[in-house]
Amino acid sequence: MEAKVAPSLLSADFGNLARDIEEINASAADYLHVDIMDGVFVPNISMGFPVLKAIKKSSKKPLDVHLMIVNPDQYVERFRDAGAAILTVHYEACTHLHRTIAHIKDCGMLAGVALNPHTPVEVLTDIIQDLDLVLIMTVNPGYGGQKFIEHSYAKLLRLKQMLKEAGSNAIVEVDGGVNFDNAEKLVNHGVSLLVAGNTVFSAPNKAEAVSKLKGR
Ligand code: DX5
Ligand code: ZN
Repeated sequence: MEAKVAPSLLSADFGNLARDIEEINASAADYLHVDIMDGVFVPNISMGFPVLKAIKKSSKKPLDVHLMIVNPDQYVERFRDAGAAILTVHYEACTHLHRTIAHIKDCGMLAGVALNPHTPVEVLTDIIQDLDLVLIMTVNPGYGGQKFIEHSYAKLLRLKQMLKEAGSNAIVEVDGGVNFDNAEKLVNHGVSLLVAGNTVFSAPNKAEAVSKLKGR
Protein backbone atom coordinates (compact mmCIF):
# COMPACT_ATOMS: atom_id res chain seq x y z
CA MET A 1 0.00 0.00 0.00
CA GLU A 2 1.23 3.47 -0.81
CA ALA A 3 1.16 6.15 1.84
CA LYS A 4 0.76 9.85 1.33
CA VAL A 5 3.67 12.03 2.41
CA ALA A 6 3.76 15.48 4.00
CA PRO A 7 7.27 16.94 4.28
CA SER A 8 7.57 19.01 7.48
CA LEU A 9 8.87 22.46 6.71
CA LEU A 10 10.30 22.81 10.22
CA SER A 11 13.46 21.12 8.93
CA ALA A 12 13.77 23.40 5.88
CA ASP A 13 16.37 26.13 5.43
CA PHE A 14 14.42 29.15 6.74
CA GLY A 15 16.76 31.51 4.91
CA ASN A 16 15.73 29.89 1.64
CA LEU A 17 12.14 28.85 2.27
CA ALA A 18 10.84 29.61 -1.22
CA ARG A 19 13.64 27.56 -2.79
CA ASP A 20 12.97 24.59 -0.49
CA ILE A 21 9.21 24.79 -1.12
CA GLU A 22 9.91 24.74 -4.89
CA GLU A 23 11.70 21.44 -4.42
CA ILE A 24 8.69 20.04 -2.58
CA ASN A 25 6.39 21.38 -5.32
CA ALA A 26 8.39 19.36 -7.82
CA SER A 27 8.13 16.18 -5.71
CA ALA A 28 5.38 13.58 -5.27
CA ALA A 29 4.48 15.00 -1.84
CA ASP A 30 0.75 15.14 -1.12
CA TYR A 31 0.77 17.96 1.45
CA LEU A 32 3.18 20.42 2.98
CA HIS A 33 3.21 19.99 6.78
CA VAL A 34 3.54 23.26 8.71
CA ASP A 35 4.20 23.27 12.46
CA ILE A 36 2.89 26.18 14.51
CA MET A 37 4.37 26.35 18.03
CA ASP A 38 3.57 28.95 20.67
CA GLY A 39 6.26 28.38 23.29
CA VAL A 40 3.53 27.50 25.82
CA PHE A 41 2.05 24.19 24.69
CA VAL A 42 5.52 23.11 23.55
CA PRO A 43 8.96 24.39 24.59
CA ASN A 44 9.66 25.96 21.20
CA ILE A 45 8.37 28.79 18.99
CA SER A 46 8.21 28.32 15.23
CA MET A 47 6.30 30.77 13.03
CA GLY A 48 3.18 32.90 12.80
CA PHE A 49 0.69 34.17 10.22
CA PRO A 50 2.98 36.35 8.04
CA VAL A 51 5.32 33.42 7.42
CA LEU A 52 2.42 31.00 6.90
CA LYS A 53 0.90 33.32 4.28
CA ALA A 54 4.23 33.52 2.47
CA ILE A 55 4.46 29.71 2.52
CA LYS A 56 0.96 29.47 1.07
CA LYS A 57 1.96 31.74 -1.82
CA SER A 58 4.88 29.51 -2.76
CA SER A 59 3.36 26.09 -2.14
CA LYS A 60 1.56 24.11 -4.82
CA LYS A 61 0.78 21.44 -2.21
CA PRO A 62 -2.16 21.85 0.18
CA LEU A 63 -1.08 22.95 3.66
CA ASP A 64 -1.38 20.45 6.51
CA VAL A 65 -1.20 22.76 9.53
CA HIS A 66 -0.26 21.21 12.88
CA LEU A 67 -1.10 23.52 15.78
CA MET A 68 0.96 23.06 18.91
CA ILE A 69 -0.67 25.99 20.67
CA VAL A 70 -3.04 26.60 23.57
CA ASN A 71 -6.48 28.10 22.79
CA PRO A 72 -6.51 27.08 19.11
CA ASP A 73 -10.22 28.08 18.85
CA GLN A 74 -9.22 31.69 18.95
CA TYR A 75 -7.32 31.41 15.65
CA VAL A 76 -9.36 29.02 13.47
CA GLU A 77 -10.58 31.67 10.99
CA ARG A 78 -7.12 33.17 10.70
CA PHE A 79 -5.58 29.81 9.82
CA ARG A 80 -8.24 29.33 7.17
CA ASP A 81 -7.48 32.78 5.78
CA ALA A 82 -3.77 31.95 5.83
CA GLY A 83 -4.45 28.95 3.60
CA ALA A 84 -4.72 25.80 5.75
CA ALA A 85 -6.40 22.83 4.06
CA ILE A 86 -6.12 20.57 7.11
CA LEU A 87 -6.13 22.08 10.60
CA THR A 88 -5.01 19.78 13.41
CA VAL A 89 -5.31 20.69 17.07
CA HIS A 90 -3.92 18.83 20.07
CA TYR A 91 -6.31 16.86 22.26
CA GLU A 92 -4.27 18.03 25.26
CA ALA A 93 -4.84 21.70 24.37
CA CYS A 94 -8.63 21.60 23.92
CA THR A 95 -11.16 21.69 26.74
CA HIS A 96 -14.13 21.69 24.36
CA LEU A 97 -12.78 19.52 21.59
CA HIS A 98 -16.16 18.78 20.02
CA ARG A 99 -16.81 22.51 19.60
CA THR A 100 -13.34 23.12 18.19
CA ILE A 101 -13.72 20.35 15.61
CA ALA A 102 -17.11 21.69 14.51
CA HIS A 103 -15.59 25.18 14.24
CA ILE A 104 -12.78 23.97 11.96
CA LYS A 105 -15.23 22.12 9.71
CA ASP A 106 -17.60 25.10 9.57
CA CYS A 107 -14.66 27.09 8.26
CA GLY A 108 -14.29 24.61 5.39
CA MET A 109 -11.10 22.84 6.50
CA LEU A 110 -10.47 19.19 7.28
CA ALA A 111 -10.35 18.73 11.05
CA GLY A 112 -7.64 16.72 12.76
CA VAL A 113 -6.76 15.85 16.35
CA ALA A 114 -3.21 15.11 17.47
CA LEU A 115 -2.29 12.95 20.45
CA ASN A 116 0.93 13.27 22.44
CA PRO A 117 2.89 10.05 23.01
CA HIS A 118 1.44 9.57 26.51
CA THR A 119 -2.19 10.10 25.49
CA PRO A 120 -4.11 6.88 24.80
CA VAL A 121 -6.14 6.68 21.58
CA GLU A 122 -9.18 5.66 23.64
CA VAL A 123 -9.76 9.31 24.66
CA LEU A 124 -11.10 9.80 21.12
CA THR A 125 -13.82 7.14 21.44
CA ASP A 126 -16.68 9.64 21.60
CA ILE A 127 -15.42 11.99 18.90
CA ILE A 128 -13.81 9.66 16.38
CA GLN A 129 -16.87 9.76 14.10
CA ASP A 130 -16.45 13.53 13.69
CA LEU A 131 -12.75 13.54 12.78
CA ASP A 132 -11.26 13.78 9.30
CA LEU A 133 -7.79 12.95 10.61
CA VAL A 134 -6.02 11.54 13.67
CA LEU A 135 -2.38 12.51 14.15
CA ILE A 136 -0.34 10.19 16.35
CA MET A 137 2.76 11.98 17.63
CA THR A 138 5.62 9.51 17.47
CA VAL A 139 7.97 11.91 19.29
CA ASN A 140 7.27 14.53 21.95
CA PRO A 141 6.20 17.61 19.98
CA GLY A 142 8.48 20.63 19.79
CA TYR A 143 11.48 19.72 17.67
CA GLY A 144 12.46 17.98 14.46
CA GLY A 145 15.06 15.25 14.22
CA GLN A 146 14.06 13.26 17.32
CA LYS A 147 14.01 9.50 17.75
CA PHE A 148 10.82 7.58 16.89
CA ILE A 149 9.00 6.14 19.93
CA GLU A 150 8.56 2.40 19.32
CA HIS A 151 5.47 2.08 21.53
CA SER A 152 3.59 4.01 18.83
CA TYR A 153 2.96 0.80 16.87
CA ALA A 154 0.73 -0.58 19.65
CA LYS A 155 -1.25 2.67 19.66
CA LEU A 156 -1.65 2.56 15.89
CA LEU A 157 -3.08 -0.93 16.01
CA ARG A 158 -5.62 0.11 18.65
CA LEU A 159 -6.52 3.17 16.58
CA LYS A 160 -7.01 1.01 13.49
CA GLN A 161 -9.45 -1.19 15.42
CA MET A 162 -11.26 1.84 16.80
CA LEU A 163 -11.71 3.37 13.33
CA LYS A 164 -12.98 0.05 12.01
CA GLU A 165 -15.58 -0.22 14.78
CA ALA A 166 -16.70 3.37 14.17
CA GLY A 167 -16.86 2.79 10.39
CA SER A 168 -14.55 5.80 10.02
CA ASN A 169 -12.35 6.57 7.03
CA ALA A 170 -10.33 9.18 8.91
CA ILE A 171 -6.78 9.76 7.72
CA VAL A 172 -4.19 8.29 10.12
CA GLU A 173 -1.11 10.51 10.22
CA VAL A 174 2.15 10.00 12.12
CA ASP A 175 4.63 12.74 12.94
CA GLY A 176 8.14 12.42 14.36
CA GLY A 177 11.12 10.25 13.57
CA VAL A 178 9.67 8.87 10.33
CA ASN A 179 12.43 7.51 8.09
CA PHE A 180 13.14 5.07 5.26
CA ASP A 181 13.44 2.18 7.73
CA ASN A 182 10.09 2.54 9.49
CA ALA A 183 7.84 3.99 6.75
CA GLU A 184 6.62 0.66 5.42
CA LYS A 185 6.00 -0.79 8.88
CA LEU A 186 3.95 2.30 9.74
CA VAL A 187 1.83 1.86 6.64
CA ASN A 188 1.29 -1.77 7.63
CA HIS A 189 0.00 -0.48 10.97
CA GLY A 190 -2.72 1.57 9.29
CA VAL A 191 -0.93 4.86 8.63
CA SER A 192 -2.07 6.70 5.49
CA LEU A 193 -0.12 9.95 5.85
CA LEU A 194 3.57 10.13 6.83
CA VAL A 195 5.05 13.41 8.04
CA ALA A 196 8.80 13.64 7.52
CA GLY A 197 10.99 16.59 8.35
CA ASN A 198 14.58 15.57 8.75
CA THR A 199 14.32 12.60 6.39
CA VAL A 200 13.20 14.81 3.50
CA PHE A 201 15.07 18.06 4.15
CA SER A 202 18.44 16.56 5.03
CA ALA A 203 18.37 14.40 1.89
CA PRO A 204 20.56 15.48 -1.04
CA ASN A 205 17.51 15.13 -3.31
CA LYS A 206 14.22 15.94 -1.56
CA ALA A 207 11.98 14.63 -4.34
CA GLU A 208 13.80 11.31 -4.30
CA ALA A 209 13.38 11.11 -0.52
CA VAL A 210 9.63 11.69 -0.85
CA SER A 211 9.31 8.98 -3.48
CA LYS A 212 11.35 6.58 -1.38
CA LEU A 213 9.08 7.17 1.63
CA LYS A 214 6.12 6.40 -0.63
CA GLY A 215 7.74 3.11 -1.51
CA ARG A 216 8.38 4.04 -5.13
C1 DX5 B 1 7.59 18.08 15.91
C2 DX5 B 1 6.85 18.43 14.65
C3 DX5 B 1 7.23 17.63 13.46
C4 DX5 B 1 8.67 17.68 13.09
C5 DX5 B 1 9.01 16.30 12.60
O1 DX5 B 1 6.95 18.64 16.99
O2 DX5 B 1 5.45 18.26 14.85
O3 DX5 B 1 6.38 17.88 12.35
O4 DX5 B 1 9.01 18.62 12.10
O5 DX5 B 1 10.35 16.23 12.31
P1 DX5 B 1 11.13 14.86 12.03
O6 DX5 B 1 10.43 14.20 10.87
O7 DX5 B 1 12.51 15.32 11.73
O8 DX5 B 1 11.04 14.03 13.29
ZN1 ZN C 1 4.12 18.36 13.05
